[in-house]
Amino acid sequence: MTRGATIWFTGLSGSGKSTVAGALSARLEAEGERTFVLDGDDLREGLNSDLGFASEDRAENVRRVAEVALLFSSAAHLTLVTVISPYAKGRGHARARHEAAGVSFVEVHVATPLEVCEARDPKGLYRRARAGEIDRFTGVSDPYEVPESPEVVLATAGRSPEDAADEVLAFLRAAGHLGRTAAR
Ligand code: ADX
Repeated sequence: MTRGATIWFTGLSGSGKSTVAGALSARLEAEGERTFVLDGDDLREGLNSDLGFASEDRAENVRRVAEVALLFSSAAHLTLVTVISPYAKGRGHARARHEAAGVSFVEVHVATPLEVCEARDPKGLYRRARAGEIDRFTGVSDPYEVPESPEVVLATAGRSPEDAADEVLAFLRAAGHLGRTAAR
């Protein structure tokens, strides 16, 4: 069967992962690609509703998301994953699972600086974390390990989501990931 690819967006809360992934999905669909967006917040409502934010819970969260992504990508989808995935080990495990299955894995670091994410604070979570109302908040009281060699490092500050999505689209095109999942 035709293999798709997993496009793994990692970055701080409020960095723009979901917004850029949504814009990219629209671009890809317009080109006839089959896409599926796996959003960390959505998955925590159901599949991962038993998990919190301790390091072992995040590891399990990321592990499950990687396995679901691999299923979709193995079945000819371009799967767009948006999870903070703050630890290098978990992201490395996700990549290794894809490589072992012969499915492409494209890591996109949405590299919006903490100050910008915190100024945006779309859900008011940074404010609550600073006030001590939320434990172990990524970037405030829990680490975010910056990816060492992602395929794409995406700047989003002062730029539209569509423009950022176009940069990822250009990478996918140049790397030969397009035209394989197109519905016929
Ligand atoms: S991950 O660390 O396990 O990869 P995931 O992407 O699934 O995180 O979920 C992150 C979302 O959960 C954030 O965007 C935010 O809305 C919410 N959240 C609630 N508590 C925390 C916390 N302590 N740290 C980070 N995000 C949190």
